[in-house]
Formats: sequence, structure tokens, C-alpha cells
Amino acid sequence: MTKTQSPRHSAPSSFTALVARESDGITLSPETVESSFLPRFDDPAVTIAVDYSSVNYKDALAVTPKGGVVRQYPIVPGIDIAGTVVESDTADIAVGQKVVAHGYDIGTAQHGGYAEFARVPAAWVVPLTTLTTREAAAIGTAGFTAAMSVEALLARGLTPSDGPILVTGASGGVGSVSVDLLSAAGFEVHASSGKKDAAPLLTSLGASTVIGRLPEDPDAKPRPLGRAEWAGAVDCVGGATLAHVLSTTRYGGAVAASGLTGGAALPTTVLPFILRGVALLGIDSVQLPISRRRAIWQQLESDLRPHRLERLTTEVAISDVEPSLGRITKGEITGRTVVAVAGGF
Ligand SMILES: NC(=O)c1ccc[n+]([C@@H]2O[C@H](COP(=O)([O-])OP(=O)(O)OC[C@H]3O[C@@H](n4cnc5c(N)ncnc54)[C@H](OP(=O)(O)O)[C@@H]3O)[C@@H](O)[C@H]2O)c1
Repeated sequence: MTKTQSPRHSAPSSFTALVARESDGITLSPETVESSFLPRFDDPAVTIAVDYSSVNYKDALAVTPKGGVVRQYPIVPGIDIAGTVVESDTADIAVGQKVVAHGYDIGTAQHGGYAEFARVPAAWVVPLTTLTTREAAAIGTAGFTAAMSVEALLARGLTPSDGPILVTGASGGVGSVSVDLLSAAGFEVHASSGKKDAAPLLTSLGASTVIGRLPEDPDAKPRPLGRAEWAGAVDCVGGATLAHVLSTTRYGGAVAASGLTGGAALPTTVLPFILRGVALLGIDSVQLPISRRRAIWQQLESDLRPHRLERLTTEVAISDVEPSLGRITKGEITGRTVVAVAGGF
């Protein structure tokens, strides 16, 4: 915290922010900024003293030249904000309330969580009841997307008696939380991971089987239909992996697709859909209406609460976040990384 912030529960005249600027490439540096740096909105807004943010794939793209997610620099990255409300324009969100905010324009078109203070519309925030701000940031966008994916499979009617559920990109953020949530819900979870050393973690999160990346032979000609193996799947990889998952999903199964670490193209045919009735469920956490977002966070506070969150969580100080951003685009991060913002500069 900078010396100008005293006491904590009030808006500061200046504070520290990690600012991404575009010049010859993109630079990311701590800066002391005035309170006028925080955006103003026509709608009621809240100022949040940020405790924690996190590292997501999108945060790395925000500091990657031509990453394609930031509309305008300079920007404070950090698509997850977890902290305490210190100023509020509305009685709906009280000062002192612990909140999490993610999605919409946060960290891409409006300043995000890599700063001691953030300001967002009140209609973007989710009040926390039993989760701490650290737990909320550890779940973050990736864990929330895992919860949306599991919820979509359950809403489709999948039950543990239907058979095994595949999770791809299993050692990453979306994947590891999905393994935890699905195993806690009683499903037999098969975890697909390219990391040779991820098996102990994935097994400890409840995976019954750990396999390598799919398809096993990435150079082989894709088959429109393969041996039917999975009752359902959570896929955050996309590309040839998602095509393979669709072609190996059982009759009437469902696949929740959220990501593209393996590519945006989908080299498949209609056969899984028209011969096996497989459902492809699109998952978008960004534009999800706030009422649904708050309802899913309520589930994350109760029946969908991650059981082994601490086991899959690593903490870094905001001053040390840059190497983690470099590693996530290479698929090298395991689990979730929370960023300690308060006291971390
Ligand atoms: N739709 C939404 O609202 C939403 C929300 C959050 C995230 N996402 C997207 O979901 C994806 C995952 O996000 P995340 O935060 O979980 O990232 P992450 O922590 O980096 O996890 C992604 C995992 O994908 C696997 N992977 C990486 N490169 C791969 C490749 N070339 N081929 C196959 N697998 C590869 C790796 O797992 P293994 O090493 O274990 O195989 C990696 O850990 C990203 O594309 C992200 O943009 C979408």
C-alpha cells in the first residue's frame, strides 16, 4: 500500500497500479496514479480496495503484442477483482462488502485487478458471503468457467451413473477446477493432460484416470466417429482436441466447450451430432448476465464449492506476476495462480 492510503476503507488520492502501455511492444510497470485514473460510469459504480486478482490466459494475452483482447492501452490488466467496497453509489452494494468482479470489460477495456484500487459498475459485482476474497480470486474467471461448464452438463441431465466425464487441459485453471468440481459431484473423471508431472495433482483432485493429450497422434487423419467413451466432457482446449472429444462421446452425451488453447478451428463433421445426438454446449463467462453470474457464484459458495481449492492454488505477489503471465501462454501453469495485490507492490 502507498503511504497516501489511510485509512484503508476510503478512496485514496493516489495508489499503485500495474499499468500496461503500448509503445515498441507492450510494457508492464508499477505506477503511482491519481484517483482520477479510475474510470467514471453513467451507471452507479463501486470503488474496490483490491485484495487479490489472479492469472488467466486472457491476462497474458492483454500484455502480448497483437494479443487481440485489449481495445485500448494504457490499461491495468487483471480480469479478476476480489476485494472490499470502499465507495458505493448504490444502497445495493454497501461499503465494507466483500465482492468479486469479473467478465464484461474488466481487464480488457476497463482497468482490472492488478492495482490497489479498481472502479466498476455496481451491476458487475458479486457480493461474497462465505468465500474469502482469496478463495474468490483463486476460483476467478477460470474456476467460474469450470462451474458454468459443470452446471451446463448437469442441466443437460448428466448424472454420475451415465459414465465417465473427460476433462481436457486438465492441469490448467479451467481444467483443474473442473476435475475438483466433477469428482466432488460423484462423477468418474478422466483427466487429459500434456504435463507428465501433473498426474499426482490431478489424482489428488479426484481424477480416477489421467491420460495424455488428445488426440494421441496429432498428425493422424481425424476420424469423424471413434469409439464411444465419454458420457460428457469439459473442454477448454478446442481445435483438434475438441473434434476428437466430440467424435468419442457416447450416444446422447454432451460436451461443454469454453476455450481455444489448442486452436480456434474445429475440424469435425456433423456425424457426432446427427448419429449420436451429442450436444455441444457453448460456455461464455464474459457477457453472462449478472443475475446468472450471481446465481453461479452462490452455487460456488454452497453445493458447487471447490473441495480442494488450496491444493490447486499458487500465490504470487503482484510485483512478481510477469513471469506467470509468460508461462500461461506456453501452457506451463498448473492449477490456479492468485495474485496478492494488497501489500504486494
Ligand atoms: N469461454 C470463457 O468464458 C472462458 C473463460 C475462461 C477461460 N477461457 C479459455 O479457456 C482456455 C483455458 O483457460 P485457462 O485459464 O484454464 O488456461 P490455462 O490455465 O493455461 O489452461 C489451459 C490448459 O490447456 C492445455 N494446453 C495448453 N496448450 C495446449 C495445446 N497447444 N494443445 C492442447 N492443450 C493445450 C494445458 O493443459 P495440459 O498441459 O494439462 O494439457 C493448459 O494448462 C483459454 O483458451 C481461455 O481463453 C474461456
